[in-house]
Amino acid sequence: MARRKLIAGNWKMNNTNGEAVSLVKEILENAKNVVDKDIVVAPTFTCLSEVNSVIKNTNVKLAAQNMYHEPSGAFTGQISSDMLKDVGCEYVILGHSECRSIFGETDSLINKKIKRALEASIKPIFCIGETLDEREKGITNSIVENQTKAGFDGISLDDAKNVIIAYEPVWAIGTGKTATPADADNVHKVIRDTLKSIYNDTVAENMIILYGGSMNENNASELLNMPNIDGGLIGGAALKADKFLAIINSKIV
Ligand code: 13P
Repeated sequence: MARRKLIAGNWKMNNTNGEAVSLVKEILENAKNVVDKDIVVAPTFTCLSEVNSVIKNTNVKLAAQNMYHEPSGAFTGQISSDMLKDVGCEYVILGHSECRSIFGETDSLINKKIKRALEASIKPIFCIGETLDEREKGITNSIVENQTKAGFDGISLDDAKNVIIAYEPVWAIGTGKTATPADADNVHKVIRDTLKSIYNDTVAENMIILYGGSMNENNASELLNMPNIDGGLIGGAALKADKFLAIINSKIV
């Protein structure tokens, strides 16, 4: 089974409601006839509802940028899976490196969040990736292997099929430095092999694994045409409709 490409825009802490709506309208207007790729946008929490009202029942799908694992209660500042479903989220980004490094999210917390999202039928976009220091030490493969194992700990084979992985080398995020297509593809292969060891060949072969980290309209096509790269999780270039659309329109050969 050929894996479908998925292009996701992570808007991070950018855009007010007005800005978010005009950005998504421009994306939708130009991407509504795209049939060969899945398209996802991840606005901030405050814009989810407004953006959902624009894209509801279209081919552009909604993601949140994070979520808490408890269903409700005294967790000031947190957002639950029910709240995300209520505003139309089909996906949620979990374990982003900014949440790991700035907000101290651990592998075990991220694992709880993944489980909660799956229980709520929201597809987790589970982020992993090595730091520059780890890459220079030559331990990239073991880092992503361990992150993958920790993320999927206790998750059934059936549930695992609903997870999307985003490999985002931390040193490539927002820096203008991208992993070479061959390097990225190799790491994606390591992730697939890890999934094979946890589950089986089918789960590994069907898993959508996105690349993220300075993907843009110039390098997208080469990255997206690598055998193990199934799409992109895009930050900076997702904030400009023309750049995001150019990535969506990358030719896959
Ligand atoms: P940039 O595309 O800005 O490097 O960000 C990548 C990212 O972190 C997406 O989640």
